[in-house]
Amino acid sequence: MNESKTITVDRKQSHVETCLNKMVYFDSKTTGFEHYEFTHNAAPEINHNEIDLSTNMFGHRISYPFMISSMTGGYGKAKHLNRSFAQTAEKLNIPLAIGSMRQALENASYRQSFSVVRQFAPSIPILANIGAPEVAKGLTNQEINLLIDIIDADGLIVHLNPAQELFQPEGNTNFKNFLKKLQQLTCAIDAPVIAKEVGCGISSATAAALADAGVQTIDVAGAGGISWQKVEEERYLEQFQHENRFSPSVLRELLNWGIPTAQCLTDIAALKEDKKQYQHIKVIASGGISNGLDIAKAIALGAEICASAGMMLKALHDSRLEKTILTWMNDLRAVMFLTGAKNITQLQKTLISLKKG
Ligand SMILES: Cc1cc2nc3c(=O)[nH]c(=O)nc-3n(C[C@H](O)[C@H](O)[C@H](O)COP(=O)(O)O)c2cc1C
Repeated sequence: MNESKTITVDRKQSHVETCLNKMVYFDSKTTGFEHYEFTHNAAPEINHNEIDLSTNMFGHRISYPFMISSMTGGYGKAKHLNRSFAQTAEKLNIPLAIGSMRQALENASYRQSFSVVRQFAPSIPILANIGAPEVAKGLTNQEINLLIDIIDADGLIVHLNPAQELFQPEGNTNFKNFLKKLQQLTCAIDAPVIAKEVGCGISSATAAALADAGVQTIDVAGAGGISWQKVEEERYLEQFQHENRFSPSVLRELLNWGIPTAQCLTDIAALKEDKKQYQHIKVIASGGISNGLDIAKAIALGAEICASAGMMLKALHDSRLEKTILTWMNDLRAVMFLTGAKNITQLQKTLISLKKG
C-alpha cells in the first residue's frame, strides 16, 4: 500500500477515536433549534398511542423519520462498527448511511468493512458515500457502479467538506470543477444522489446549485454538532505540535465556521417556496441533532427526516444505541401529541415560531 493510502486508513480510525475522546463540538455556535417553539394545543383530538412516526424515504416505508448518518468503513475495526449500526438500523427499520468509500475504491481488501452492512441489514435503505474531492477529480462509471454494488445501495451521498479538507493535515482542497463533475455523476448513475455537508451546513444558494447539478436530496449537516475543523485540528496538533497555521482570533472563528442547522432548513424552505423549480428538493436535517424535540422542530422547519452521527457513535460505544434512538422517538411522539400532529405529514404542516423576547 502506498503512503497516501495508509494515511486514509489511519485517518478513518483516528476520526472515530477523536470523536469519542476529545471535545470536538462547536463551542460558540449552536444548531439554532433552541430559538424555536411550538404552540401548545390543549385540544389535540388525537390518541397518543396511535401517533404514526412512519414515513417514506429513498423509496421505502421506514418506521421513524430518522437515519444513522455517514461515519465509517475502510479499516479493521470499522467492520464491527458498521455491523452494529446495520443490525440496529435493520431492527428499527430506519435508513443507514456509511462512511466515505474511498478506501473501497483504492483497496479491495477493505470492501468487506462496508459490505457487512448489507449482510446484516438486507431490507432497509442504505446509502453509499464518497467525497467531493473524489468527484471533482472525476470518477469512472466503473468506480461509480462499484460504490453502489458493494452495498447494493439505494442512493449515493456525496459529502461536501471544504472546511474539513482545509484543516486536515493531508487534506485535498481542490474543489475546482466540482459542480460540473457532479452533474456528470448524476447523469451517469441510476440511483439518487444526495449531497451532504459534514457540519458546516448548506446555504440556499448552494442548495440551488446542487439541485441544478441533478441532486435530489440535500442533507444540510449544519453547524451545532461536531466541528470537523476541530477534529482535524486535533490531528494536526498531534502531528505537528504547533498551532501557528492561522491567527489565533481567526482560528477561533474558523473552528466554529458554518451555518447553524436550523438556519439551513429555513433558508432552503424559503428557496423552495420562492422558486418552484426547487420545490422537489427533499431535505434531511442533521448537524447537532440531539433529541426528539430537535427532530420535531427540524421536520416542522422543512425536513423530511433527521440524521445523527456523533451522538450515535457515542451511544453505540456506551451500548445504548437502540435505547437512545427509541428515547428520541418517544420525545418526538410527546411533541406531536402536544401539537396535535398524528403523523409526519401533519408535523410538517405544524406551526413553529421563533421564541419571543
Ligand atoms: C467518526 C465519524 C466519521 C465520519 N465520517 C464521515 C464520512 O466518511 N462521510 C461523511 O459524509 N460524513 C462523515 N461524518 C460526518 C457525519 O456524517 C455528520 O455529517 C457530522 O458529524 C455532523 O453531524 P453530527 O453533529 O450529528 O455528528 C463522520 C462523523 C463521525 C462522527
